[in-house]
Amino acid sequence: MCGIIGFVGREEAAPILLEGLKRLEYRGYDSAGIVVVDRGALRVVKEVGTVDKLEAAMAGVRLEGLVGLAHTRWATHGGVTRENAHPHLSCDGSVAVIHNGIIENFAELKGALEAKGHVFRSQTDTEVIPHLLEDCLREGMDLATAGVELSSLLKGQFAIVAVSTKFPSSLLAMRRNAPLMIGIGRGENFVASDALAFVDRTNRAIFMDDDTVAVVSNGPEVKVLSSGGQPIKAEVVEVAHELSKPDKENYEHFTIKEIFEQPTTVGRVLDQDAGTLTFFRRELQNAKRVFFIASGTSYHAGMLGRLFLSENMGIYSEVVVASEFRSVEGWFKEGTVVIAISQSGETADVLTAVGSARAQGATVVSLVNRTPSTLERYSDVALKLNAGTEVGVAATKSLTAQVALLYRVSKKDSEEKEIERLQEALDSVLTTEPLVVKVAEAIKASKDVYFLGRGLGYPIALEGALKLKELAYLHAEGLAAGELKHGPLALIERGTPLVLINPVDETYEETLSNGAEVKARGGTIVGVSTQSNRLYDWFIKVPEAPRQLMPVVEMVPLQLLAYHTARLLNADVDKPRNLAKSVTVK
Ligand code: AGP
Repeated sequence: MCGIIGFVGREEAAPILLEGLKRLEYRGYDSAGIVVVDRGALRVVKEVGTVDKLEAAMAGVRLEGLVGLAHTRWATHGGVTRENAHPHLSCDGSVAVIHNGIIENFAELKGALEAKGHVFRSQTDTEVIPHLLEDCLREGMDLATAGVELSSLLKGQFAIVAVSTKFPSSLLAMRRNAPLMIGIGRGENFVASDALAFVDRTNRAIFMDDDTVAVVSNGPEVKVLSSGGQPIKAEVVEVAHELSKPDKENYEHFTIKEIFEQPTTVGRVLDQDAGTLTFFRRELQNAKRVFFIASGTSYHAGMLGRLFLSENMGIYSEVVVASEFRSVEGWFKEGTVVIAISQSGETADVLTAVGSARAQGATVVSLVNRTPSTLERYSDVALKLNAGTEVGVAATKSLTAQVALLYRVSKKDSEEKEIERLQEALDSVLTTEPLVVKVAEAIKASKDVYFLGRGLGYPIALEGALKLKELAYLHAEGLAAGELKHGPLALIERGTPLVLINPVDETYEETLSNGAEVKARGGTIVGVSTQSNRLYDWFIKVPEAPRQLMPVVEMVPLQLLAYHTARLLNADVDKPRNLAKSVTVK
């Protein structure tokens, strides 16, 4: 989840690293740090808080040098303190390391290092790495050999970049189950967890494979080795232009910009390679069993995908939360198709499940937004969402693209016209914003908010609640409407808000009755529907769209509701506390 960037070139490293770090901030933002190799010494600045705070702390500090590293942290081991911020240094100050991931055997390694006299300054798992590297280099190993040795000692998942004053013109990079890319520029190179960090300077990149080590200097040649020390010929790929610097334009936040982009982005699901789409469908049709695997919002898209496959293709499937894949792992074998859905393509829980599926002979097909990404590389075939960079931590436009694309996969005919109708409906539903602001005002002081839906509305109830939790820090629960009377109804008090997702389809009357049960106990009903009803205290009228695409339309006012409630409560909308955009740890 942390963002890491290393630079080696012919210009001052610090401003370049800082610029790259700002673009990586979506990966974590509890603290940040930078190190530059300055005339044979390592100069470090670290600060708790955002990259802006780091920038302020750097002012007036001498950070001159052509080689350096920078890091933005999402804490796993050790609290949010300056000591625990990266980079971490070895005892003699000759080695600095930044890391994303978790070193599972750090306690054992730390014990052994302390017994040898190493002194630790932080509570992090990461700090074992600079101490180990210092020992390797002291024994006379070169950087590459030390990297290979280090990767044999470390258990867990990691993307690591290190510098050493012994080799002041090079970066050491290592990867295992955490994203890491090498950017190849002219007279300068980068190592970063995301191409976004360097795409303004080069769009040529090497995607490091798991269990590889690289030594990167400012020349065109990059030395890449397997964990066994064998040289590997690394392929240089071009990274997408769409990764240009994200711009808020005239919007206050990326999140609201991304909500308003949806009528456009959803249309881009039509840009698919026909052969890939056909292969995708054929794999599903021939499958003995199908599992959707995803986390968070992407899981909710998978729930809708399951309904589409069932209704449109006659295919039975299961949707499994990626971190719970072990409950179905026994079925990952030949003949099984796993549909992995992920905006980032880097979610560790998803990649772990996909790794297991691949190892056992299942076919992996995926829907992914960010490219290149590990999920795309680990899939037999990957469909792209084409939603563009999603900067806000809360997934918005990626969800609508996922659902529209799943619909497209499941329905061969006339989907183009239907996606166009969806675009019109999305345009129109965005005009509900002023009313939604009033609803946000009405619910902002609530202790709890409930979201109810049935059938196609159920995943949207879950998603509406997730958005409100993560953006506004309000307790919210999404429920299958029929489940209310089996327990949660006991929680309803006078004034408790209930958002009723109520499309006019076969579920309409039953869902309405569930709303009435809440109203009878004093609850306040916010109806989201194409049709008004006396039951609703607030009515958010949504436009008509093809029946199976109604969830996409209904979702927009719920995104707006979460956004505006968060704004009214002064929450950090684009960067909710404790969260990160790309969850690359298990
Ligand atoms: C959504 O708003 C969340 N930030 C989160 O649940 C997210 O959907 C989840 O972490 C999965 O991410 P992915 O789509 O990149 O795999």
